[in-house]
Amino acid sequence: MIDMAEGATGRRFLFLLASTRSEGNTELLTRRAAEQLPAAVEQRWLRLGELPLPPFTDLRHEGQGGYPQPEGHARTLLEATLWATDLVIASPLYWYSVSADAKLYLDHWVSWMRVPGVEFKPSMAAKTLWGVSVLTTEDHAPADPLVATLRLSAEYLKMRWGGALLGTANKPGQIGEDLGALERAKTFFAG
Ligand SMILES: Cc1cc2nc3c(=O)[nH]c(=O)nc-3n(C[C@H](O)[C@H](O)[C@H](O)COP(=O)(O)O)c2cc1C
Repeated sequence: MIDMAEGATGRRFLFLLASTRSEGNTELLTRRAAEQLPAAVEQRWLRLGELPLPPFTDLRHEGQGGYPQPEGHARTLLEATLWATDLVIASPLYWYSVSADAKLYLDHWVSWMRVPGVEFKPSMAAKTLWGVSVLTTEDHAPADPLVATLRLSAEYLKMRWGGALLGTANKPGQIGEDLGALERAKTFFAG
């Protein structure tokens, strides 16, 4: 169990599962890391594929009034995001970056920053962003763009960057053979 002593109280982790398959390697690695969180830390798990967002449209420079209030799945994801103290993007490596579902979620941040009455930017600045990803190669360099996407997005919103937990696997379940990643998972959220 991770010793988060003082830090555990009031922590709320939102896990955003961004693979297009359930119980894939990224999810298993994320669950392994989350098992170590103290019981006092609240956890909420959402699968982005079950909460499809509408296509993102850039309305930043049109008209007066910012973006309309999000509805449906966008509202669910916005509220969950605001609720969390810690956001975990659990995305497999797809073409060297995050999955399309994860990318679309990040694109919607641009609209949420401009929804009247939602203090998205200041709220995000109080949070920590974490990444978990699995790719097929033991060399993790191909995941550099994914890690940079998340780290720089965190920096843009003045969030704390918690870091990225990376593993190697391809077929579902294969992450169980990456003993190094499973070991790193045990202490990941203590960082
Ligand atoms: C659309 C797609 C793109 C992928 N791109 C890469 C890639 O760029 N590099 C890589 O090493 N693996 C790539 N993979 C393999 C996945 O990262 C790998 O199978 C991973 O274990 C899938 O994660 P999951 O089990 O959590 O779904 C890709 C797989 C898919 C379906």
